[in-house]
Amino acid sequence: MKIGIFDSGYGGLTILSKIRDRLPQYDYIYLGDNARTPYGTRSFEVVYQYTLECVKRLFSMECRLVILACNTASAKALRTIQQTDLPHMREGLRVLGVIRPTVEAIGSLTRTRVVGLLATDGTIQSQSYPMETEKLFPDIKVIGQACPMWVPLIENNEHHSAGADYFVRKYTDALFAKDSRIDTIILGCTHYPLLIEKIRRYAPQEVNIVTQGEIVAESLADYLRRHTEIETSCTKEGTVRFFTTENAEKFQSSASIFLNAPITAEHIAAL
Ligand code: DGL
Repeated sequence: MKIGIFDSGYGGLTILSKIRDRLPQYDYIYLGDNARTPYGTRSFEVVYQYTLECVKRLFSMECRLVILACNTASAKALRTIQQTDLPHMREGLRVLGVIRPTVEAIGSLTRTRVVGLLATDGTIQSQSYPMETEKLFPDIKVIGQACPMWVPLIENNEHHSAGADYFVRKYTDALFAKDSRIDTIILGCTHYPLLIEKIRRYAPQEVNIVTQGEIVAESLADYLRRHTEIETSCTKEGTVRFFTTENAEKFQSSASIFLNAPITAEHIAAL
């Protein structure tokens, strides 16, 4: 069995690369639903439907464990898939998200107990981060700011442009205008590490900026340690295959920028 990594587009590559640094021995299948990205502006029902289709697709391709390397899908689809869909599928299939491990990590990072969240509109609207945080750290306040232009900038490879500076500054300023006590920012969208240099430029200097790759990789390592029945069923040849619902050549040329290495991708239709 391989480990499936899913995102609406290229963003999950930031998670995949950290997972492969931490757990290079396993075999992975990456699926980007680039044909239907972005998810961040879509309704609950649509994100759920698209995510479920892609998860089923990964299950049909030798994956037994799928990581939703997408906050929007984790916020809007994970719970329903785990509670409503998985019980009707074959035994032993698992889906994990990225929000819970991120929230677990912030408790030790903030001193002021005021944390900023930069994410898609869908993730902000879902209130998933404040709700998860309330369960684990009731003394931490999460202030959210939706950044609807950031994913399109990244998906169109415009994130290094001067136009990107305008939108990075706009949403970063809007976040700090809501509460100047914020000492930690969560980049709550797997695309956003691509903008980290610009975010650092416009955020106050002393602020911690939390990206999710290493956190999710560590949490997966811990999960596999605790679930030996899944760990022993994972093949260990260190391979990765990339699939996209868009054109494979287009995915290859953009993905190689994200990963700093050439890759080969294959086109696939969502189920
Ligand atoms: N990378 C996805 C996330 O973490 C988002 C993107 C989208 O809007 O498609 O939320």
